[in-house]
Amino acid sequence: MRMVDLIEKKKNSEALSEAEISFIVEGFTHGTIPDYQMAAWLMAVCFAGMNEDETAWLTHEMAHSGDVLDLSMISGPTVDKHSTGGVGDKTTLIVAPLAAALGMYVAKMSGRGLSHTGGTIDKLESIQAFETERTRDAFMEQVSTHGVAVVGQSEGLAPADKKMYALRDVTGTVASLPLIASSIMSKKIASGARHIVLDVKVGDGAFMNTLDDARALAKAMVEIGAKLGRSVCAVLSDMDQPLGRAIGNALEVRESIDVLRGGGPADLRDLSVYLTAKLVQLVEGGTLDDATKRVSHALATGAALKKFKEMVISQGGVWGDDEIYPEMHAAPVVRTITMSSAGYLSSIPARALGTIAMQLGAGREEKTSSIDHRVGLILFKKAGDEVRVGDEFAEIHAATEEDADRAALQLAVWMKTSSHAFAKRPLILDEIN
Ligand code: URA
Repeated sequence: MRMVDLIEKKKNSEALSEAEISFIVEGFTHGTIPDYQMAAWLMAVCFAGMNEDETAWLTHEMAHSGDVLDLSMISGPTVDKHSTGGVGDKTTLIVAPLAAALGMYVAKMSGRGLSHTGGTIDKLESIQAFETERTRDAFMEQVSTHGVAVVGQSEGLAPADKKMYALRDVTGTVASLPLIASSIMSKKIASGARHIVLDVKVGDGAFMNTLDDARALAKAMVEIGAKLGRSVCAVLSDMDQPLGRAIGNALEVRESIDVLRGGGPADLRDLSVYLTAKLVQLVEGGTLDDATKRVSHALATGAALKKFKEMVISQGGVWGDDEIYPEMHAAPVVRTITMSSAGYLSSIPARALGTIAMQLGAGREEKTSSIDHRVGLILFKKAGDEVRVGDEFAEIHAATEEDADRAALQLAVWMKTSSHAFAKRPLILDEIN
């Protein structure tokens, strides 16, 4: 087989065979296919696309290019939840212990934040001494004993995807539906869970800005799951504005614990319950109503909070017996911003607010930037809320007074009101089963 022939074939919109896709992924991973040929092939895929079989084969090959987690020794249903990324999205911190409280097993590998979006591993590292790197044995032991462990993605997970993504990033070949779908799903398949709920974010702060694009991505990922023997469903949820109130690592951990204690913002609680109920449905069948009742019960009884605590302590995190929250540092400067006009808040754009939080130090501009776990924003209002002069709009948590000054100026741009009420966009926009 010659790579040049496979580039020509894809350029002419012909479908490749399983053996041909395996040749490409293996050759590129091991360095026998050079970057320039792979880049040409990726560009051909961007224009010609791939059919469902090709996309599933590509996913399978990338998933099996490195370590594949074997969860077969776990004697219960193994589940995973994946979000395509957003601002204030801390549902993993709630869904993972909730699922564990309901008898499911969550062996979760998560990522770090980049640009305006956050990452679960950064959030968990706000907790003093929390270990996000564990040996394989310690990770599996924790999942078997407590039902939940969340660690960083290991270097050996889907290395073909890592190498391909780096090349796509610099060759204008990221924006291809089969490439995005196979990239995301390769890591989910390699993570070993049998049942997977995908939270595909839609809107200003998301990878997919329109409902149509998000639907197409969700459909492609659910199909890959079906072809590779996993039960997968996708929920499409709003990311035009941040989820919950907190943006920033320690602030988001606190807010998640508030939800696990039965409080917290309604949108975060509702989406977390919905995603967990979808997991229950994937595992057990039955109606969404019944699943939702069971999930709400696990929240109300404190069973999910207990699982979260078990996870934190098992991963070395510091949590005193009577403390509401685990030990986390707080930002030295906290400033409240109030409304200077009345009316209905026009918009709370997720991308812009995520960027303000990132510039406070909560996120990374570059992959190698360091972050400050203490800082971020708490937003007291949602788009469309009616506000009066003097109402609290936001709280800035900053490392210095100068940082708080800058964030206050940036926030002022988004405190626009209109005199007309308007319909609020629903939180859950669609689902693909
Ligand atoms: N996230 C991924 O993991 N892969 C892509 O291609 C795009 C987003």
